[in-house]
Amino acid sequence: MKHSNKIKDSNNREGKKVRVLFVCLGNICRSPGAEGIMKQLIEDHELQDFIEVDSAGTSGWHEGDLPDERMRAHGAKRGYDFLSRARRFRKRDLDKFDYIIVMDSSNYTNVKSLASTKEQLDKIHMMTDYSQQYNHDHVPDPYYGGASGFELVLDLLEDATEGLLQAIKEKHAFA
Ligand code: 4NP
Repeated sequence: MKHSNKIKDSNNREGKKVRVLFVCLGNICRSPGAEGIMKQLIEDHELQDFIEVDSAGTSGWHEGDLPDERMRAHGAKRGYDFLSRARRFRKRDLDKFDYIIVMDSSNYTNVKSLASTKEQLDKIHMMTDYSQQYNHDHVPDPYYGGASGFELVLDLLEDATEGLLQAIKEKHAFA
């Protein structure tokens, strides 16, 4: 489907990109998956000039690493190439990004502890708040589990990124 991507009003601050940051614990499984899937979706909708995506971890344990091999392999089976490098979430991300999307309540608590204004707090959302077909209240950490955990993560992320993109399009009035 072809989309016309004119920005209709000033909600997106006169052409400034909408910035989305996905956050999990290690930044090697869930959040890089969300980043890769969201980037693909944005390209499919030809919105890459309007929306920017990144990911980070609340820990710095895997700083500089590629996504976990299992995450990459499961993603590849669905046509994704997850190639981001892990980095730690920083307090300044709360100013730079418009949407900070966390995977579970522990991520939520950790990110929230760095927020100092209502504006920053209001940017933090659970990924599953954007779910359309699933009823999970968080995206479960797959790191210590098996293949089915990674497949579930991908199912949840594919579903919620669709919901998130829809919400951004409505809020920021992309035609
Ligand atoms: P993620 O998964 O938060 O989805 O990237 C994890 C990755 C690494 C570890 C835990 C969770 N770890 O304990 O090293």
